[in-house]
Amino acid sequence: MKIVITGSNGMLGYDLVQRLKRRYEVIGIDIDNFDIVHKNVVDYLLRQKPDFVFHLAAYTDVDKAERDRKRAYNVNVSGTRNIVTVCKTLDVPLVFISTDYVFDGWEEIPYTEKDRPNPLNFYGETKREGEKIITAMLKKYFIVRTSWLFGKNGKNFVKTITSFAQKKESIEVVDDQYGSPTYTYDLAVSLKMFLTVKKYGVYHITNRNSCSWFDFAKKIVTLSGGKTVIIPIKSVDFKSKRLAKRPQNSVLDNSLFEKRFDYRMPTWDDALRRYLSNE
Ligand SMILES: NC(=O)c1ccc[n+]([C@@H]2O[C@H](COP(=O)([O-])OP(=O)(O)OC[C@H]3O[C@@H](n4cnc5c(N)ncnc54)[C@H](OP(=O)(O)O)[C@@H]3O)[C@@H](O)[C@H]2O)c1
Repeated sequence: MKIVITGSNGMLGYDLVQRLKRRYEVIGIDIDNFDIVHKNVVDYLLRQKPDFVFHLAAYTDVDKAERDRKRAYNVNVSGTRNIVTVCKTLDVPLVFISTDYVFDGWEEIPYTEKDRPNPLNFYGETKREGEKIITAMLKKYFIVRTSWLFGKNGKNFVKTITSFAQKKESIEVVDDQYGSPTYTYDLAVSLKMFLTVKKYGVYHITNRNSCSWFDFAKKIVTLSGGKTVIIPIKSVDFKSKRLAKRPQNSVLDNSLFEKRFDYRMPTWDDALRRYLSNE
């Protein structure tokens, strides 16, 4: 089986390539070989004739996307349209990684796949546009909304906190935004299931349980044996440092995926422990 992974050098891409390359022929697409915005990626992939496509490449800097709108739109919308064109022409399944940021966060309970998207920031808008292109053009798709990713191969909150913790006595972290931290290793294990169980649709997939960024930071410091004090602050006091609005509650309900695939996601604190101890 020939599998294309776009964004193969990114944080999730790295783990997915590691999971799949032993058993399958993997073709990695990333900015160093192809820009998914350009049509030549379509011609190349049509010639390669993959059996399955994972589309992970994206403009992922949520704050920068507010200013750099043209590029964010081109990558997340036009680039996605190019990848969808390949899947439609070859009639092969597509997995698209979307985000909790398609929701506005006003709900107080976890979001299900039936809840109405209403993005608060431009990044969320472009990812939602990508979802719409897929549902309009394809039948064989998996749209996976996930959140708060951390993994070995990329910048993430865990690395930021562990690095600050070595230099600072205290760190301020917001305690009024809730989500589910998700280890890219665990997400890659779940994504692999789509190769064999073709139950197409929209799925929310994160590590189990939820927390605030403050809880998450405290756990990172505790598990890494640090002494830095984490100080809770409110998002309004942190606003000046961030261009993009974030949802207050972006916890995603995993139950549809767990039920249909008969699988239980590990909890986020177990995932964090494994990540920090290099297991
Ligand atoms: N990180 C999160 O917390 C999070 C949460 C929810 C959903 N997601 C989604 O999950 C997916 C993977 O996220 P991630 O954190 O692993 O992202 P990432 O580390 O930023 O990886 C994305 C990869 O795509 C590449 N890329 C960007 N623009 C491209 C283009 N035009 N053509 C080809 N490659 C391009 C990036 O290269 P450069 O690094 O050079 O730009 C990077 O290697 C994304 O679709 C993202 O929207 C992420």
